[in-house]
Amino acid sequence: MSQQTRSWNAACIPPQTGRRVVITGANSGIGFETARELARKGAEIILPARSMAKAKDAIDQIRTEIPSAILTPSVLDLASQASVREFAGWFSREYPGPSIDLLINNAGVMAIPGRELTVDGFERQFATNFLGPFALTALLNPHLRQREGSRIVIVSSSVTKWAKMDFGNLQGERRYRPMMQAYSQSKLADLLFALELHRRLTICGSPVSATSAHPGYAITNLQTSGPGSGPSVLRMASSILRPFLSQDAARGALPTLFAAVAPQAISGNYYGPDGFFELKGYPKTVPIPTAAQDPRDAQRLWNEAERLTGITFQI
Ligand SMILES: NC(=O)c1ccc[n+]([C@@H]2O[C@H](COP(=O)([O-])OP(=O)(O)OC[C@H]3O[C@@H](n4cnc5c(N)ncnc54)[C@H](OP(=O)(O)O)[C@@H]3O)[C@@H](O)[C@H]2O)c1
Repeated sequence: MSQQTRSWNAACIPPQTGRRVVITGANSGIGFETARELARKGAEIILPARSMAKAKDAIDQIRTEIPSAILTPSVLDLASQASVREFAGWFSREYPGPSIDLLINNAGVMAIPGRELTVDGFERQFATNFLGPFALTALLNPHLRQREGSRIVIVSSSVTKWAKMDFGNLQGERRYRPMMQAYSQSKLADLLFALELHRRLTICGSPVSATSAHPGYAITNLQTSGPGSGPSVLRMASSILRPFLSQDAARGALPTLFAAVAPQAISGNYYGPDGFFELKGYPKTVPIPTAAQDPRDAQRLWNEAERLTGITFQI
């Protein structure tokens, strides 16, 4: 384990006063904890959720604990390209010019039992976990402040260790498996995206960095909102092992927070928990799975994302 990251926790977050952060999926789980800790350190948080009520509820909860928190609710459904454009349009009007220090692509859905299509006709996990964040990042990228400390963070998953990109089955058209194909491939796409973003930002000399993180195994709504499916033996094993292998959402947020604000986090690096099998623990640099290491896959995916979303990334 790197000395630099040993026992890194929320108390290590540097002051964030004067920094503006956009976090997706911050009304729940890891995103909520990430928003709360950044707000505690003085960051201004733009908190879009799937409904204004959810965003306001989360804000009320954070304000109960941190009355001085600067939080703005908004609406964003990453499964709808129209909603992504609407949110980005609203953001551009409210916060014109270079106005973001940190964009954290955290929102996600996991293991939807049957193959579902979004309003745009995309498979729901690929759309929510990858295409939506890709489009959002492309549209908000011009608003990133061009200075050291500006970062784009993409939350992936340790399940990418077993994932592979199948460009002939990107959206589960030929074969749909909720967890080990659709979810894992969408999170691998996130990782490929983060790495390609890092390469492109580096080539154009941008001071903005791109990092990625995974939370290990954190108990959140993720396990209940999508699955409930899968072999019952696996579900039983998971419920027995859960107390030993998992951590709470606050701990699960640490790799994301590290990737977002730790001065020692490096663009292009991937952060996860330091414990057994990267399931729990303090943040450390974790190996990038083989399936995410081929830049040709990353470029191909990028081109495909631009084609599907109709948005050209200005980078
Ligand atoms: N928990 C883990 O063990 C684990 C492991 C690996 C990776 N992750 C990743 O960590 C991230 C956060 O997950 P979590 O565990 O904190 O789960 P969570 O508690 O279910 O939070 C997920 C967040 O994403 C939002 N979201 C879902 N669909 C959305 C959409 N179409 N548009 C906008 N927002 C949407 C949810 O909003 P609603 O409240 O409206 O549903 C919620 O705020 C995800 O990217 C997940 O893949 C988690």
